Amino acid sequence: MKYGYFDDAKREYVITDPQTPWPWINYLGTEKFFGLISNTAGGYTFYRDAKFRRLTRYRYNNVPLDMGGRYFYINDEGTVWSPGWKPVKTPLDSYECRHGMSYTVLTGLKNGIEAEVLYFVPLGTNAEIHKVKITNTTKMNKHLRLFSFAEWCLWNAEDDMTNFQRNFSTGEVEIEGSVIYHKTEYKERRNHYAFYGVNAPLQGYDTDRDSFVGLSNDYSNPQVVTAGKPKNSVAHGWSPIASHFLDVDLNPGESKEFVFVLGYIENEEEKKWESKNVINKQKAKECLARFDTAEKVRKAMEDLRTYWDGLLDVISVKSGDEHLDRMVNIWNQYQCMVTFNMSRSASFFESGIGRGMGFRDSNQDLIGFVHQIPARARERIYDLAATQFEDGGAYHQFQPLTKRGNDAVGGNFNDDPLWLILSTTAYIKETGDFSLLDEQVPFDNDASRSRSHFEHLKASFYHVVNNLGPHKLPLIGRADWNDCLNLNCFSKDPNESFQTTENKRGGTAESVMIAGLFVVYGREFVTLCRQIGKTDEALEAQKHIDAMEKAVKEHGWDGEWYLRAYDYYGHKVGSKENEEGKIFIESQGWCTMAGIGLKEGMVTKSLDSVKQRLDTEHGIVLNNPAFTKYYIEYGEISTYPAGYKENAGIFCHNNPWIMIGETVRGRGDRAYEYWKKLSPSFRENISDLHKVEPYVYAQMIAGKDAFRPGEAKNSWLSGTASWMFYTITQFILGIRPSYNGLEIDPCIPADWKGYTVSRKFRGVTYVINIKNPDHVMKGIRSIRVDGALMEGNIIPLMPAGKSYNVEVVMG
Ligand code: GLC
Ligand code: GLC
Repeated sequence: MKYGYFDDAKREYVITDPQTPWPWINYLGTEKFFGLISNTAGGYTFYRDAKFRRLTRYRYNNVPLDMGGRYFYINDEGTVWSPGWKPVKTPLDSYECRHGMSYTVLTGLKNGIEAEVLYFVPLGTNAEIHKVKITNTTKMNKHLRLFSFAEWCLWNAEDDMTNFQRNFSTGEVEIEGSVIYHKTEYKERRNHYAFYGVNAPLQGYDTDRDSFVGLSNDYSNPQVVTAGKPKNSVAHGWSPIASHFLDVDLNPGESKEFVFVLGYIENEEEKKWESKNVINKQKAKECLARFDTAEKVRKAMEDLRTYWDGLLDVISVKSGDEHLDRMVNIWNQYQCMVTFNMSRSASFFESGIGRGMGFRDSNQDLIGFVHQIPARARERIYDLAATQFEDGGAYHQFQPLTKRGNDAVGGNFNDDPLWLILSTTAYIKETGDFSLLDEQVPFDNDASRSRSHFEHLKASFYHVVNNLGPHKLPLIGRADWNDCLNLNCFSKDPNESFQTTENKRGGTAESVMIAGLFVVYGREFVTLCRQIGKTDEALEAQKHIDAMEKAVKEHGWDGEWYLRAYDYYGHKVGSKENEEGKIFIESQGWCTMAGIGLKEGMVTKSLDSVKQRLDTEHGIVLNNPAFTKYYIEYGEISTYPAGYKENAGIFCHNNPWIMIGETVRGRGDRAYEYWKKLSPSFRENISDLHKVEPYVYAQMIAGKDAFRPGEAKNSWLSGTASWMFYTITQFILGIRPSYNGLEIDPCIPADWKGYTVSRKFRGVTYVINIKNPDHVMKGIRSIRVDGALMEGNIIPLMPAGKSYNVEVVMG
């Protein structure tokens, strides 16, 4: 069952039924000011940091779900309704939500009145625009009363939801003209305030929530809206809000447009005040002036479209399969930009008050957007590297507002360092910018401890080498990529976090996944060293990689698949000897990607075991059999009910590793079949089961052991986005940036006849036409660039500014 449809020409998903199985959301903002908005106008806004600079309030896990947002109410002679259906929930004569690239349009029709609200954040602006257009399609004159509504958050979103003894006394506002200013704590330690204004004279307002809503009412029936009359309330403490009231008179056929602007301002210390206790509003007024007509807003919206044209223009595919094309060309790339901006902080599954930017997460996210915004990728790489220690280890996360690493979710995740090699090499291959390596970057955010970025990579590499266990396999530390395989944490205390507790510190648990990861990114390190003439460095590093391959073959192979780990006691994890959790996906992914034991048949056996034991109709589960009891020596993984999350859920992030492994083996049909199973567009028809948005990847789909296999959770903020994009474009479609040119190496289903990829790379546009006359899955017979036959499968660097036609024949 579907709740809408894709409009590919406009790059939108159009929701036609407001009662989706879960709020289907979108993100507004591309730089510093962000909003989350659901298909019924729920959500919130913040400046840079969803925890410390929250502008509007949101109550998570609410009843009903998704209540609170930037709402509009229309009182049409006693009939009260909202353009996005919620919060009033008056049945609409028609409803439509268009989620596009960084904007959302909600349109409702009731009794001949059409109200359309466009939400977006203009480029270069710390404000959200809400453009409301109301049209009278009837033959009568209409008198409507329009109310806006936003509830202020007292900045620190966590404190806001807990510290009521203080917060109910601190709220302060100012009202001037048509603008409501929120200035709580501005007097003391804050240099910022928020405002919500409209480009029309007001007939009234409210700024105190209880006066507006009424203590026993809720957002669906605020007493002021029902009465059709504002109270002009001024908030002193309690819960400040911003609600504008406008009388709207419309002749038959007439439309009126109103531009609401919800923004954020910072003032320098000496310019904070206009007069005693009166805030300096100059910057707010400048911002409002930039959007004081619908025309100006249309222009800003055009600029936003142009911006997205540019971002999505770098790579696009024409395959004849609409699902594939729209995922690659539109939604997957869009989601990658959102994970760039949000990491794992703010979604309808991440509260925005918990997690900052993760070290491993952000490094991996980078492979999904480096082609679009290389300069910002470069900056991100430095931010990440600066939270590393001299020994190569890293803080597991940092807060975007301060960019400083913190211990809030612990450290010692021994996979962390290697992901920096992935992000750095991906950046250089895309841009050719080796100068990144020479830049001085601090360790532990301390400028006096700066070394070149290359030294950071070297520290990453040797962090593994210097932390080997009894089988010469990498020590796992607190956990590797799988946050829930906590082999050095034996926890009996339900109030203890598995991620921050390492009560068996110094333990000798080892990870076969990190071993595979090390071989893959160790080789990347070696190749990089050779590229920059550090031959001795390369030779030395290669020895450690060879030793690691040997260790995996000797101690990491279980006969039919790779082991997952050795636990604290030195017992095998992920072995046929185990009763539960006999096989895990992560080590199969990394060791097959590394091609460890390819000649000996290990890669094929491992992948076939995955197919046989882990694959399901909805994707590949993480482990099998699922854990059905608590294993204190394994940790959180065995706390999840079977089939969910890390315990045998389909943890989508790791499925691409198997897809890439299949391409190493040359089996394009299997790689693509796995790809299809996870891709939301292919799952749109089962939206009632899938539950979350059909346009973005989810972190998890319930596995075969779960109560409802196929039900997805944790949409949007997941490494799935970047890995799926990386896999489909670079390993299946096979267009891969490399140091010396663009490598062409498709691995596709045999029945494909061909496809075309347009790729901008280092200032050159390549239109690459791939033909598959012999119906092979892998292998290239010839490549012609503008007619000239090439040697090998790397198109060498061409002079920038030109466009080339590339004819590729597989065979
Ligand atoms: C979450 C975390 C990520 C981790 C994964 C597997 O997605 O953000 O860091 O690798 O779970 O546990
Ligand atoms: C839980 C989740 C895991 C996530 C971690 C973040 O362990 O299962 O996916 O990465 O929390 O701290």
